[in-house]
Amino acid sequence: LNQPPLTIAICGLGTVAQGVLALLKRNESLITQRAGRPIQVAAVASRTARPEVDLLGAEFSTDVRSVIEKPEVDLVLELIGGETLADELVRDALLRGKHVVTANKAIIAHHGDDYLELARARNLAFAFESAVAGGIPVIGALTRGLAANQINWIAGIINGTSNYILSEMADNGQSFAAALKQAQELGYAEADPTFDVGGIDAAHKLTILAALAFGMSMNFDAVYTEGIEALGGDDIEYARQLGYRIRHLGIARRSERGVELRVHPTLIPQQQLLASVDGVMNAVMFNSDAAGDTLYYGAGAGAGPTASAVVADLIDIAAGGAQRGVVAGQSPTVDVIPVEQTQSGFYLNIPSLDQPGVFARAATILSDHGISIDAVIQKEHPAQPDTEHAWVPIVILTHPVSEGVMNDAMAQLQAMPEVVDTIKRIRVEHFG
Ligand SMILES: NC(=O)c1ccc[n+]([C@@H]2O[C@H](COP(=O)([O-])OP(=O)(O)OC[C@H]3O[C@@H](n4cnc5c(N)ncnc54)[C@H](OP(=O)(O)O)[C@@H]3O)[C@@H](O)[C@H]2O)c1
Repeated sequence: LNQPPLTIAICGLGTVAQGVLALLKRNESLITQRAGRPIQVAAVASRTARPEVDLLGAEFSTDVRSVIEKPEVDLVLELIGGETLADELVRDALLRGKHVVTANKAIIAHHGDDYLELARARNLAFAFESAVAGGIPVIGALTRGLAANQINWIAGIINGTSNYILSEMADNGQSFAAALKQAQELGYAEADPTFDVGGIDAAHKLTILAALAFGMSMNFDAVYTEGIEALGGDDIEYARQLGYRIRHLGIARRSERGVELRVHPTLIPQQQLLASVDGVMNAVMFNSDAAGDTLYYGAGAGAGPTASAVVADLIDIAAGGAQRGVVAGQSPTVDVIPVEQTQSGFYLNIPSLDQPGVFARAATILSDHGISIDAVIQKEHPAQPDTEHAWVPIVILTHPVSEGVMNDAMAQLQAMPEVVDTIKRIRVEHFG
């Protein structure tokens, strides 16, 4: 413990930065012990001063660029969020020979290859445990615990806001809009909630996990992304009647043809562990060749959990463990399989006129495409019994089929004169 401290500069003084400062203070002695040396905050820089926050003796500045120029700073902790200035700071810090830790999944998903290369070339650490699933150490699990394994697939509930909204809709009958408003009031949603409910935040995180699991590039643009905005309470209820729950998942799966990368609402059997992950919690499951299925569950956001992951990176770097066993970008040529070529089961919700023979015609279209039906719900009573155009939903669950074939079948179903509105479809997956 006579070693010199690891000297850090923190950029940003918001939720996560305040959580980090509080944790460094609260657990100072055990952190020093585990790191083998003290972690000293030399500078904090952010847009707005917060005199009420204990900066642990660090200097405060509103000039975030200047703190990374300080010669005594060994490591820059980027916690301002956003994409432009944060990207500049990370690159600059690495170019100046500083280790970098960040929680910023957006910049990693876009530029992570560059950062890792800049760090590798200078024998520096670039660490980001907190960027995926907050307090759950999934990056450590991939890069350390499972380092000996071939990873086959990843399935994760990696956006707490979406999961909270789906849980509220299912368990408390809330509308999408009401549940989103509640998530914002409780502080769960990102500043721009479209990143959460549109699946972009989950796609950032899936990009990072897949890069580490499969040694591929950070390939955000190749992730097929669907959010939860179009889900109705009726879909959640029909899924329940069929024995499923709807979860918003990030899925990455390796095959001989390449890697599938997709983020979308998914029906999963009620009895599977991922189906029971409720509220704002996150969970990530890895299927790997030696360890089999492993599942990681916990808080995906919040000051304490996120700080836990950030400080773990600081301890790791202070202790000299910066170079991890598995890195992204080793096999940048891994192909991403177009979503049309992926396979899954499908839930279809077909709003149709309440006339005889409609279901039989829909079933014929599916069977003409070689799609077999697993289960059906046919309502006996129209949604609007008194109108001339009374319609009923025909709900069909199919066995796995390629998405391209399903697209063709859906185009024909949609063109049936009895179909009164847009058909909704949700993919179905059985993990394990
Ligand atoms: N919150 C979580 O639970 C969580 C979990 C995992 C990862 N993350 C990631 O962690 C990062 C930080 O999130 P957060 O929740 O702590 O955000 P936050 O509460 O909004 O804090 C951001 C901080 O950075 C400062 N800042 C923003 N833009 C700046 C600029 N241009 N120049 C100087 N300072 C600037 C803000 O100053 P003002 O006070 O003036 O706004 C604020 O102090 C993000 O990348 C986020 O995605 C967050």
